[in-house]
Order: sequence, then structure tokens, then C-alpha cells
Amino acid sequence: MQFFIDSAHVADIQAAHDMGLVDGVTTNPTLIKKAGQDHKQTIQAISAIVDGPISVETLGTTADAIYKEAQEYVTWGTNIVIKVVMNAEGLKAVRLLANDGIPTNVTLVFSPLQALLAAKANATYVSPFLGRLDDVGYNGMELIQHIRTIYTNYNYSTRILAASIRHPVHVLEAARIGADVATVPADILKKLFHHPLTDAGIATFMADAKAWSSR
Ligand code: G3P
Repeated sequence: MQFFIDSAHVADIQAAHDMGLVDGVTTNPTLIKKAGQDHKQTIQAISAIVDGPISVETLGTTADAIYKEAQEYVTWGTNIVIKVVMNAEGLKAVRLLANDGIPTNVTLVFSPLQALLAAKANATYVSPFLGRLDDVGYNGMELIQHIRTIYTNYNYSTRILAASIRHPVHVLEAARIGADVATVPADILKKLFHHPLTDAGIATFMADAKAWSSR
């Protein structure tokens, strides 16, 4: 399973990269706002750290506008993925970009049928939003399972990018189902290292070592 960092915060991305855990990065307008820096400079700074795919979200509302915007974004780094919202114009743009060999990520996906349409448009990635579905009383993980089944049935190459991840169990379950990628916020990535029995075991070993090392 690949790990992308769901962040536009350059210091967080650098720290995760130093741990060897960054296969790529996903950004969106909200994450850019949170990072508080210029959009282009932020993406360029991320691109200087990360070799893997970096998703940059388009804002255009027509296929032509999205396509034009994409031509600019691909100049911002070496491995830019064009993020496109899930709707008819968005998927039109995905087809145009796919014909040019430009990778895409269809975002704000909340149903298996939307994911099927994204695969038929030849999207590189599809981003089902787990946490936001859970928030409104649906089962986000069930969506990942349905998409996995559909993509396997028809051998679609579109990669499932589990997004809107809120806690470690989302990462665990997405991995069990076979999502290709989890895009993980930096604070959740850090939590993956921990287990209370590991912490307790370390404390005991350190205390025991102190006892014999001072003999
Ligand atoms: O990549 C975008 C997605 O992960 C958003 O997450 O927490 O805003 O639902 P969230």
C-alpha cells in the first residue's frame, strides 16, 4: 500500500519524508488555505521534497477551463497529478487530460457509481472520502469495498486512493480491503507507530537495563 500525505504543510511533509513514509502528496483548496502560503510556491516547495505524485486541485467549472488550468499546474513540478472534482465537466476534462498522458485524481467521490464513471473516464486515481461519509451516518469503508469489487471485476487500472482518513483504523481497514493508496494526515501517520504495549515494553526494558548497567 502506498502512503500519500494529505497536507500542504511543507514542514510536515518534510518530516514524513525523512521517515521514508511519503510515496506522494494530496492537496486541496482547504489544505492550501490552512498552510497559509501562496499556492504555486507551496506546490513547488513540496515538489522539491517529494519525487512521487503530487495532486493539485483545479477550480474550473467547465472541462475547457479545467484543461487549461491543468496546463499551468503541470509546470509547477515534475510529478503533478491534476485533481478534478467528480461531475460531468470534471470527467470530460479527465478524458482530455488522459488523452494527453496527464495523470488525474477524481475527488469528492461518495458512491461506487461515481467511482465506476471515473474509471471509465480513464482517471489515474479515484478518491473516495471515508471520513465524510462516516460523519453523515454512512459506512465509508463499505464504499472502498464496493469500488475494489467493481475495479477488480472489470480490471480497471484506476487506483483507489482512500481519502478523508480520520484515524488509524481507516488506514488498517483500507489496507485489508486492498485500497492502492491511503492519503493520511501527518498527525495520523505519527499515530501508526504507537501501541501501548510497545510503550510499556520500552519502559520496562529501559528500567531493567538501568538496574544492570549500574552494577
Ligand atoms: O484529500 C482530501 C480529503 O482527504 C479531505 O479530508 O478530513 O477534509 O474530509 P477531510
